[in-house]
Amino acid sequence: MYKIFDTVDEVSRYTAHRLLEKIQTKPNAVLGLATGSTMKPVYAQLIEFLQQTPADLSQLTTFNLDEYMGSSAAHAQSYSYYMCQHLFNKLSIPRHKVNLPDGMAEDVECICQAYSAAIQAMGGLDLQLLGIGSNGHIGFNEPYTSFSSRTHVVALSEQTRIDNGRFFANQSEMPTHAITMGILDILEAQEIILVATGNNKAGIMAELYHRTMDEALPASALAQHENVTIVLDAEAAALLQQSA
Ligand code: F6R
Repeated sequence: MYKIFDTVDEVSRYTAHRLLEKIQTKPNAVLGLATGSTMKPVYAQLIEFLQQTPADLSQLTTFNLDEYMGSSAAHAQSYSYYMCQHLFNKLSIPRHKVNLPDGMAEDVECICQAYSAAIQAMGGLDLQLLGIGSNGHIGFNEPYTSFSSRTHVVALSEQTRIDNGRFFANQSEMPTHAITMGILDILEAQEIILVATGNNKAGIMAELYHRTMDEALPASALAQHENVTIVLDAEAAALLQQSA
């Protein structure tokens, strides 16, 4: 299902409201969370909603999609740092219920397996929030990642390194590898919301809209899921009609 709004504000309100509803109806929900610029206004809106309508967050569990390898939680560009800054420092979710892949782990294979296993041990994700890369990645599952992948180490594509290099003082500081939840982990979520805003997402959204499932376009895996909402602003949706 596509939901198209005029503005980023409306997209963020809708998405944050869906998160709030999940928290209200299932206080022990397991949420799959994303980072990136798309999610900043979504989290800001969720915090505002929760200030207006406080909810019990003590039973929530969260699993983030991904983390850069070699990035400690203290690194300002790590996703752990991002989540604290934009969400966790402002909400009372117990820290031991917050999960991100450990970008500093020595035995990476082991922590990857443990991450997917931990999601399954919680009964799976109730709601997975996704952004999308300009190359169609979800999490950091780059083009040609198997649709049956579990949490794994990924070599970031050139496109992703260019796109995300903007957050680093120097492009050369942009990590080359990351740990990401796999596509199968994502597909096993009960409900998925993919959010895309801005004209830099118009091309990939048009491609996704018309493409049949193909591992060359990771987000196309979502076509096999029965409960996906794709939330767009007018800019990200601008080429959907044109390319029909
Ligand atoms: C982030 C993630 C990525 C981003 C995507 C879009 O945790 O999993 O897939 O959602 O790269 O990033 P932004 O929102 O910065 O365009």
